[in-house]
Amino acid sequence: MSTYKKRTHSCGALRKSDIGKTVTLTGWVDVRRDLGGVIFIDLRDRYGKTQVVFAPQHNQEAHGLAQSLRSEFVISVTGKVEDRPEGTANPEIATGDIDVVGTELTILNKSETPPFPIEDGIEVNEDLRLRYRYLDLRRPVMQRNLLTRHRVYQCTRSYYDRNGFIEIETPILMKSTPEGARDYLVPSRIHRGKFYALPQSPQTYKQILMVAGYDRYFQIVKCFRDEDLRADRQMEFTQIDVEMSFVDEDDVLGVTEGLIVELWREVLGANIQAPFVRLSYKEAMERFGSDKPDTRFGLEIADCSDAVANSGFRVFSEIVKKGGVVAGFTVPGLSDYTRNQLDGLTDFVKSLGAGGLVYVKCHPDKTESSVDKFISPEEVKAIAKKIGAKTGDLGLLISGPWQKALTILGLLRLEMANRLKLIPSDKWDFLWVTDFPLLEYNEEEKRYVAVHHPFTSPKQEDVALLDTDPGKARARAYDLVLNGNEIAGGSIRIADSELQSKMFALMGIGDEEARQKFGFMLDAFKFGAPPHGGIAYGLDRIVMLLTGQKSIRDVIAFPKTASATSLMDDCPSAVDKKQLDELHIRVI
Ligand code: AMO
Repeated sequence: MSTYKKRTHSCGALRKSDIGKTVTLTGWVDVRRDLGGVIFIDLRDRYGKTQVVFAPQHNQEAHGLAQSLRSEFVISVTGKVEDRPEGTANPEIATGDIDVVGTELTILNKSETPPFPIEDGIEVNEDLRLRYRYLDLRRPVMQRNLLTRHRVYQCTRSYYDRNGFIEIETPILMKSTPEGARDYLVPSRIHRGKFYALPQSPQTYKQILMVAGYDRYFQIVKCFRDEDLRADRQMEFTQIDVEMSFVDEDDVLGVTEGLIVELWREVLGANIQAPFVRLSYKEAMERFGSDKPDTRFGLEIADCSDAVANSGFRVFSEIVKKGGVVAGFTVPGLSDYTRNQLDGLTDFVKSLGAGGLVYVKCHPDKTESSVDKFISPEEVKAIAKKIGAKTGDLGLLISGPWQKALTILGLLRLEMANRLKLIPSDKWDFLWVTDFPLLEYNEEEKRYVAVHHPFTSPKQEDVALLDTDPGKARARAYDLVLNGNEIAGGSIRIADSELQSKMFALMGIGDEEARQKFGFMLDAFKFGAPPHGGIAYGLDRIVMLLTGQKSIRDVIAFPKTASATSLMDDCPSAVDKKQLDELHIRVI
């Protein structure tokens, strides 16, 4: 038997139509105001807030006890719902038309003074919020974020279920998968000196499920990567993982677009148009300087290499001769950018590794550039034309190797858009980036590494390049980008064990190592692997964007800090020597 009255309603439920009812509410004291003998409490739970009034004439005992209430005390209140006196309704909250006149009060628990107010819009150091995460999670904005996350799980499950996909769990303790990041290892007690790895993704398992005939699989799954953390990266994050058999790119992209349209409709009531634009990696780099371009604003990059290929300015002509680029973009109306401002931009690009920044200013009477001493006025004009700079505009140019120069330009493009507030916040720009390079040469290790992962198929027409010029081969890989964020990535896989072995060889993984690391997969592929492909969405990033947050930490109940610690439960932490002994581990 309960020693207190259970709630009849939540703190967000009562309306004018409830006036006259006797109700019981339970929750946390949000604020307490003592107005000359009458005590007002805002009582809060995750459904909302209700104002409760205690006055001696209603019940002396309850009023007396109410005087001892403080923020975050947990109480149960019984009383009558009343109309608020004329002019005191609060249209800001759903229960703002009524009061509950408290006649019975039970204090269920007291609270220490919270280290920060439990309300939205507080300016509090994030470490303090993470240390007291249970208080932070009481704030309405955090509750909305987690509720949106919940909706995303439910929509996802419903969508894939309706489309014939089955949810299958894959192991958390597994053999290490080669996906680019460092693995988290778990020592085996039983097998001395051996380790499990936490999955960087369920990639190998989902492919093996295709061999096993489960042709439409999905899973909402935790992945673990020991990599540097950022606002959009956690060591432990959640993917919506999908794999399909007997498909090509159009099938995977189509099913993915279907979920996105449904999520945006169900969660935000927004009408997203599919199919989404597809850009090749090359085009994305050349127009936006990024493999996850933000297309909500202009400032598109143009190649000016032609215009300066024979220039007397050696910095430009030499770069073009070596196969690099001279490229830039126009910032409209900024021809009066000051020396100081331009120096700031030069420092910015230099910090990213550029040799320097060249500018072109289009004044009404003349076109001026930072390299006027070295290049002819015709060349400056030709550059201005290439980047579409008109009178009053500023052109910004960088020269260098293709990838490096364009990447820096892409970051400069974003910097200028942020400075000039050119990025509309009410736009949803979804696009696909396709045709990524398959392999990338690692100078340090003197070998190729997979750009996506080693199971990604080359494009059919590029298979021959694997023998002649592997760096040129393109992958059947695709990323889904939203407003400049990579929110999903996947590929059509290699289903042929010979081609798979060839890929391993290109990556400097010998037969023996391949057998040891992926023998199980190569074996599986010998028993009738269907053509297959898939994708994984970054669920945390999707929820971050749906809720308008700037960091995925704000949509994860218990995230880690940038230095990979959990401040609330102080992890990682030391363990007993006995535990280490059992695991055959000595800390040095
Ligand atoms: P990928 O490595 O591209 O692909 O990951 C898929 C998506 O997961 C999200 N993501 C992250 N989110 C938060 N923190 C991280 N550390 C993090 N790393 C990745 C991104 C990304 O687009 N197995 C393949 C998928 C496949 O080929 O099917 C994979 O994991 O939004």
